[in-house]
Parts: sequence; structure tokens; C-alpha cells
Amino acid sequence: MQSTVIRFERFQAAQDEACQASIMAARQKLGHRLVILGHHYQHESVYRHADHTGDSLRLARAAAASDAEYIVFLGVHFMAEVADILSRPEQICILPDLSAGCSMADMANLAKVERCRRELSTHYDFDATFTPVTYINSAADLKAFCGEHGGIVCTSSNAQKIMQWAFARREKVLFFPDQHLGRWTGYKMGIPLDEMVVWDPDLPLGGLTRQQIDHAKVLLWKGHCSVHQMFQPQHITRFRNQYPEGKVIAHPESPFEVCRLADAVGSTEFIIKTITESPPGTRWLVGTELNLVNRLAERMKPYGTIVQFMSPLICECSTMARIDPPHLAWALENLAHGQIVNRIQVAPKEAELAKLALDRMLEVS
Ligand code: 13P
Ligand code: SF4
Repeated sequence: MQSTVIRFERFQAAQDEACQASIMAARQKLGHRLVILGHHYQHESVYRHADHTGDSLRLARAAAASDAEYIVFLGVHFMAEVADILSRPEQICILPDLSAGCSMADMANLAKVERCRRELSTHYDFDATFTPVTYINSAADLKAFCGEHGGIVCTSSNAQKIMQWAFARREKVLFFPDQHLGRWTGYKMGIPLDEMVVWDPDLPLGGLTRQQIDHAKVLLWKGHCSVHQMFQPQHITRFRNQYPEGKVIAHPESPFEVCRLADAVGSTEFIIKTITESPPGTRWLVGTELNLVNRLAERMKPYGTIVQFMSPLICECSTMARIDPPHLAWALENLAHGQIVNRIQVAPKEAELAKLALDRMLEVS
């Protein structure tokens, strides 16, 4: 007998214990048919159910290596798309709440990137001059654009290697959608700041002159992460005045001055590794999402290591937070009853081109 989809309303007002119990029961029932991948920014209430946790690169690899019939993603939309693209066609990827997007990823879209290419093409042979590099925080069609135009995907943990790959092919890089990651990566590679210019997609020719583009090595898309832009240089200065022996670490989505003042800059995985391997008793100021920082603070307490959040304000990634116990319980309970809800499925042609750009990345990193 065909069962019907279980409605979300059944879980919406449920107590946390009830959701936790149904998540565990469904996992038990599904066994090895299910794998749950969880990004470090997820809240503990769902993160604890992940079979694999990691930054976006590690989770992309886990998706590619998984044999499970169902891949449930605790993260945001672009991450589930990557899992779908890198997994086999018969595997099913699920995002428990479809409204879990990424506001930075939404700052670039195919229409605007195509317009940028058209405008640049009036002055340059685009495919011979620019390597398009998209941060993994982008929609699948932008990854497909990179696949089609000899470009590549990067994450915050491999951006420098990827940029080197890009420059080995063409003289300039078009980097989207995060200007901060692009600028920081270029700066680390020794590219002067005036050779990295911001392309504003809402202005003709990106708001730039022909001379500026001629002179530039990198065109940085005008996009940013609303969570990481909350971290400011004065937060670091205040911390250093109070704790001169303290260390500062930041995610490269943070503003340039924050990265420049930090002792270390890197992906979520890098932040965790650096802090967990630091001498006991170290005091850290951390510029990345709150759930990760709170989890790390708890984990390091027994070693006397103090982990402090960089901003006085609460900067949670509100879209990551949409994956909560009610949504996870609802998605898993449906799977346990043979119903698929919230499947993420990238169109085949787009997936093929996006995979090209992702495979180039996996090969390089
Ligand atoms: P990571 O690649 O470090 O996981 O970062 C992804 C992200 O969205 C950070 O805001
Ligand atoms: Fe996107 Fe920023 Fe959230 Fe990361 S923290 S998923 S970049 S909005």
C-alpha cells in the first residue's frame, strides 16, 4: 500500500525530545541506506545526528564518497546541490528545509554573471583573458558557467591553490560572489590591492573604467557574507589591549582589515584544527559563526583554553539555523515511510557542467 507524505505540521509544534526521539528512530530504521552530512555552523540539536561533519570542502568529498541511498544535508542549499552533483544519479539528496539558502550565494546570479561576461566581451576575448572562479557558496548554474568557460570552483580552504590554477591558464580572474575571500586570497599571493578591483553588477561595466580593468589581475564581485561582515578591526584591537597574549583567528569571509589583523585566517575546518592543536590555556578570539564558536568553547574548556566570539553582537547564520529538529525529524520520518520530501535535484545539463568545475577543484585541492 502506498503511504502518503507526513505533513510538517505534525512536527512544527512538537517538543524537542519528541523530535529527537523520532530522528533517532528513523535513523535506526533506515540504517546504512541513510547518511547525514552536517556543516560546522549547524546548531548542536541537529549537528549531533551527523555521520560526517566538516567544512564545505570536506562535506563535498564525503558526498562524493558516499554509497548511501539517501544523503540528508544539514547545511544550506548550495551545499545540498553540490552533494547532488557529486553523488551518483540514483542517490537522493535532501535538504530538510528548502528555505535554508545562503544570502551571499544569492548576491550573484546567472543573469548578472552572463551580463558581466557580455560587457567584458565587448573589450576582451573573455575566454582567453579571464578564468572565472566561483566560491562554492553559489548556485549550481554559476558552477556550470565556470565549467563551460574553463573555470573552477573554490572553497575557503583551497582558494589559493585554485587561484594559482586559474592564473596558470589566463592572465586575469573573475572571482564571485565573495569579494572578501577573493581579495584575501589575492593579497596572500602577493597581488597588490590596486590590482584587485570590485565589479558592481548593478553598474555598467561593473562601475569600472577600461583602464582599471586593463590594470587589474582580479575582478572581485561585489558580494559578501552578512554574518562575517559583523566582525570589525576594533573588536580585535579591544581584545589585544585586554589580553596581549591572546590569539586571533578569522574566517576569510571576514572584512580585509580583520583578516590582516588576525594571527591566522582559514576555513571552519582550519579554525577548529588550529584551536584544538594550540597549547592548553591559550585564549582565542574567533571571527566565524556563533554555533561553531560555542561548540569549540565547550570542547576546549577541559584544557583551560578560552574561546571567545569576536563580535559583541550575536551573529548566527540565520539560514543555516532553519535546519532544526522539527524539519530533520519530518524529513527522516518521511524517508522511513518511503516518502521523499525536499529532494534537491540539479538539472542534468547544468549538473554535468557544474561537475566539470567541481572535479577540477577536487583534483587541484
Ligand atoms: P567553510 O568552507 O569554511 O565551511 O565555509 C562555508 C561558509 O559558508 C562559511 O560562511
Ligand atoms: Fe552564507 Fe554567510 Fe551563512 Fe556562510 S555564514 S552560509 S556565507 S550567509
